[in-house]
Amino acid sequence: VPVVVAIDGPSGSGKSSVSKAVATRLGYGYVDTGAMYRALAWYCLDLGLGLTDQAAVAQAARDLPLELGTDPSAPTVVVGGTDVSAAIRTTEISSRVSAVATNLDVRAELVRRQRELIAAVAASQGGVVAEGRDLTTVVVPDATVRLLVTASEEARLARRSTELHGTADAASVAATRDQIVRRDKDDSAVSQFLTAAPGVTVVDTSDLDFAGSVQAVLDEVNA
Ligand code: CDP
Repeated sequence: VPVVVAIDGPSGSGKSSVSKAVATRLGYGYVDTGAMYRALAWYCLDLGLGLTDQAAVAQAARDLPLELGTDPSAPTVVVGGTDVSAAIRTTEISSRVSAVATNLDVRAELVRRQRELIAAVAASQGGVVAEGRDLTTVVVPDATVRLLVTASEEARLARRSTELHGTADAASVAATRDQIVRRDKDDSAVSQFLTAAPGVTVVDTSDLDFAGSVQAVLDEVNA
């Protein structure tokens, strides 16, 4: 039976890098659901759509010509033939993605695509690690392993600051705070990812380094 590892968590929890490393170690495929919401935001902006035009954005979600790479060592994101892997990680997209992610018709369409992709990758590779905000609760609540990867707000800010600015000095952390804290708030309307749902195991990475976080998740998968 194919193994589905579902991992939820907030920004800066280490969820993405840990999920990729775990998938690589297990020889499983990898599905980044956040990349799908980011790709949609990019596509809407490219089309010149206002992100608050609910009907137009929902239609764009249904039309989205997305190819999501599922190799954890090279998870490329291609929209309509354009490689947007880097373009979807800009601060502009990060600050606007919640506007499309809070559209319920968008979520219905992307969740449908996510379930299909997760099932296909799990079947072809024997297993899949899928990560996001609502995997354990909405997308694949029947997953083999369900984890919430968390970290203290302080640790999350320091990590994201280092990712974005190369340092976690006071000024960089302050610049990051706005992004992280505001997005948590924007996202809380649709996905509950800061406390674990029943049956979901919390992996707190506040005091773990990267290798320790990977090992903690592998321990849960092998438990
Ligand atoms: O890694 P980071 O927290 O920066 O974000 P991400 O995983 O790339 O997700 C980007 C955004 O997509 C989130 O802030 C949510 O607005 C949305 N998202 C969602 O609503 N549901 C998911 N399953 C995954 C992401």
